[in-house]
Amino acid sequence: MKKIIGLAAAGALLLALAGCADGGGGGTEASGPKDIGDLVVGFAQVGAESGWRTANTKDIQDTFKDEGIELKFSDAQQKQENQIKAIRSYIQQQVDYIAFSPVVETGWDAVLQEAKDAGIPVVLTDRAVDSEDTSLYETFLGSDFVKEGQKAGLWVLDEYKDATKPVNIIQLEGTTGSAPAIDRAEGFADTIRQNANLKVVASQTGDFTRAGGKQVTEALLKSNPDVDLIYAHNDDMGLGAIEAVEAAGLVPGKDIKIVTIDAVHDGMQALADGKINFIVECSPLLGAQLVDVIKTLNDGGTVEKRIITDETTFTQEQAVEALPDRKY
Ligand code: AHR
Repeated sequence: MKKIIGLAAAGALLLALAGCADGGGGGTEASGPKDIGDLVVGFAQVGAESGWRTANTKDIQDTFKDEGIELKFSDAQQKQENQIKAIRSYIQQQVDYIAFSPVVETGWDAVLQEAKDAGIPVVLTDRAVDSEDTSLYETFLGSDFVKEGQKAGLWVLDEYKDATKPVNIIQLEGTTGSAPAIDRAEGFADTIRQNANLKVVASQTGDFTRAGGKQVTEALLKSNPDVDLIYAHNDDMGLGAIEAVEAAGLVPGKDIKIVTIDAVHDGMQALADGKINFIVECSPLLGAQLVDVIKTLNDGGTVEKRIITDETTFTQEQAVEALPDRKY
């Protein structure tokens, strides 16, 4: 009899411990779904470096507000240590879910493991991490950056298909070590390789900012006077490049062609005005998909490990047509 009572007590203790390990994570089979209005999500944003990022932040904040889900928001000012601090603070606060857009690809394993140990599911939005252990996050939701670079490269290939002399290209890279900077450079390089006349003569980071794009273009135009095309990893750097090209007494879109990625309002306006030649879209409107993922997980469901956003491209004529209905 004593033995039976002992076994029952041990079983009860195990169940209690399992309950503790469930931590802050939302709906599980054991606890059942939480009411949407009771969920708390921590979001660690990269910063406010570009028009794209501002639109992304607004979309996420607005969507969570509309859905009645509490969102704790932090801006890491493009610094990984700030993002790690924010994630640790969300773990301490025992939020139900953590979402973040990693400023760079490497160095996340330790903090992701801490979130996993606390039972808090993590959703990556917009940018990837290079962790080999993919169980550290639920899903990565965002664009295919390699494809974006390829689309930019395909336009350049077509534009210069009849070139009989070298075409000198300057590349304005995004934040060093970030997924979009790495992937957009790779997709572009792999595509333009098909035409030996297309040459990237200089490539430097402008950190995804307008000021960075302007400063780098000014310097690179001095050391490379015969530039035919600028490929900028985002609209903001392309807009900075326009200022530098004009300051050098040249006509952007004509003397120097410009290809960018994002399709935010100011970029689309410059495209419609003929100062940019082609834009590959990268959608910042990830709020609805993020909420869907959280609701599915809260209901005890599973989500695809990779969710890719649908995107298009714009020529100058298409920008004129699309501008009036553009949401960002
Ligand atoms: O990660 C997405 C990129 O980050 C956008 O293309 C860029 O504008 C932003 O800063």
